[in-house]
Amino acid sequence: MKNEIFEKVLSLCKRRGFFYQSAEIYGGMNGFYDKGPLGTLLARNVERYWVDHMESSGYQMLLVDGSIIGSYAMWKASGHVDGFSDPLVDCKNCQMRFRADDIDLEKNCSHCGKKNWSDIRQFHMMFSTQIGAVEDSHAKGFLRPETAQTIFVQFKNIMTTNRVKIPFGVMQIGKAFRNEITPKQFLFRSREFSQMEMEFFCKPEEAFGFFDFWVKQRFLFFKSLGLTEELIRITPHKEADLSHYSKATSDIEYLYPFGWKEIEGIAYRTDFDLRSHGECSKKDLAVYDNEKKASYIPHVVETSVGVERLLLVLLCDGYHEEQEENGEVRIVLRLPIDLAPYKVAVFPLTKNEIPLALTVQKNLSSFCRVQYDESGSIGKRYRRQDEIGTPFCITVDVESEKNNTVTIRFRDSKKQERIKITDIKKFISDNKCINDY
Ligand code: GAP
Repeated sequence: MKNEIFEKVLSLCKRRGFFYQSAEIYGGMNGFYDKGPLGTLLARNVERYWVDHMESSGYQMLLVDGSIIGSYAMWKASGHVDGFSDPLVDCKNCQMRFRADDIDLEKNCSHCGKKNWSDIRQFHMMFSTQIGAVEDSHAKGFLRPETAQTIFVQFKNIMTTNRVKIPFGVMQIGKAFRNEITPKQFLFRSREFSQMEMEFFCKPEEAFGFFDFWVKQRFLFFKSLGLTEELIRITPHKEADLSHYSKATSDIEYLYPFGWKEIEGIAYRTDFDLRSHGECSKKDLAVYDNEKKASYIPHVVETSVGVERLLLVLLCDGYHEEQEENGEVRIVLRLPIDLAPYKVAVFPLTKNEIPLALTVQKNLSSFCRVQYDESGSIGKRYRRQDEIGTPFCITVDVESEKNNTVTIRFRDSKKQERIKITDIKKFISDNKCINDY
């Protein structure tokens, strides 16, 4: 049943153009997706919402946008050149490759049914590239597998040029690339995705306190999205499972149709990154503590969530099917109003109302994201908007010409209200629908 829902979400995404398989006309690329118009709007709204939520934390937050390609030296210092790999195993019978920690090697290959495994070896997951025309040791670069490092290497510049004091956070939203052995579950694990990361720089003695603060803060973020409460939880990592640079990590998990899995990781990364970049670049990344009259390397609490992984959560959580009185099934995507790609759709009831409906749509278009639809029955037009999550549909009918009113129909309750055309903008701003980015 749960997988059936997942299939339906996939089918909706494809049917309505939220996402397309990259280079689909050439057979597609495994683990790569292009966002269509609706997916792009949804992602941008999510990113803007994330920034707003971060900025409401009460601490100073700065937003940066680093380069996607990073130098060999930077990724060497971060530990990625030597350590960013997953265990790989081949089926020697059918040549299929698997992540060794994803499968039970006691069992037969799920592809060919035989059991003939190779030894496990480490598979490096960064995409490398050549920078410039000369092939020397400075020419090797990597597409970043996380956005975090571009924040660490600019830490001193950011601090001095913005005159901020510890504690403060640096946020970044941008692309990350991982050559995943087995990209799967649609947007959940892909090879190109976006991350929304925040590195919070603080004094070492305050780091555990800030770690707890950010775990709670991030959980509140997911609750504020209206996700079903029983489907989200915080899972602290056991000490034995912590990364070498972390003294505490918690995941925020969601019960996807394929099981409990991570949406976001919150990690106390100690001073590992700044210390390592300081040592390797031979630049002083320490700051001065005026009270203690001594220098120290700030410690870092990181929050890191994938945009597309969060979109998948919103789509799975928001997808509902309702039985209508006439026996039809209504698909409704209950997205939070702030995040819905379109806030309003305008329909003329008949051809006679087209000019007034177009005027209403035009007047609203500078104010909120609005769709216009004049084809098919009103019922069909409602359905088209319900399944892309449009919270309000405005119908212009015979009465509209006479008394300057329209009906507004609510996505979730299907209730309708009659309001004055001159009150539509107020209704929209009262309902948090104003242009999002
Ligand atoms: N800087 C820390 C970091 O990158 P991570 O747990 O590897 O930590 C953080 O990744 C988040 O990025 C994950 O919680 C997930 O939301 C997203 N993410 C990681 N790998 C991904 C992939 N292959 N496809 C989609 N999202 C991914």
